[in-house]
Amino acid sequence: MRIAVFASGRGSNFNAIAKAIKSQKIKASLALLICDNPDAAVILKAKRFGVKTFLIKRADYKDKPDFENKIIQVLQEEKISLIVLAGFMRILSNDFVLRFKNKIINIHPSLLPAFKGSHAILDAFNYGAKVTGVTVHFVDELMDHGPIILQQALKIEENDTLESLEAKIHKIEHRLYPEAIRLCVQARLKIKGRKVHPALH
Ligand code: GRF
Repeated sequence: MRIAVFASGRGSNFNAIAKAIKSQKIKASLALLICDNPDAAVILKAKRFGVKTFLIKRADYKDKPDFENKIIQVLQEEKISLIVLAGFMRILSNDFVLRFKNKIINIHPSLLPAFKGSHAILDAFNYGAKVTGVTVHFVDELMDHGPIILQQALKIEENDTLESLEAKIHKIEHRLYPEAIRLCVQARLKIKGRKVHPALH
């Protein structure tokens, strides 16, 4: 199965996924990085792993459909079966999501449906939550929403700082995301009782 990761930033999840694929814990090919930010550290990580990068700047396209159509064209050329969102800071349109139904997965640093949005760790910390965690889910038309693949909870300790909490969350992410991708690749996932295999859709 050929996988594309979409990322805009640091790329620590990209790194964890690339390592799991390189060591054959996941038997798939990391064929493509789609990145919308020329300054993102993830680009260097892709280079290090020899993963082809397609850098696409939103400002170079007249509107969102144009921008997404270009991405679709590249995904088709690269024969991608599974799209892995790993810190991609753009909301994909309904059309895009429906076109790749059950083929897009996302990781979110909270126990969904709690703390949606782009500051989930900070929000859980500031709220005074005693438990938070990480969720990997299929992507549907709503933000940070869709059938859950894996979740792991994490206790927020009295002496945790925002920084210590972030570090613990990321450590969980780097184990949980490769595991979820492995289950996906092995076609071991079901949505409402129906087996899901991205390559067959
Ligand atoms: C992660 O915390 C992930 O849960 C969220 O975006 C962040 C990406 O981090 N969706 P990185 O770029 O993989 O280091």
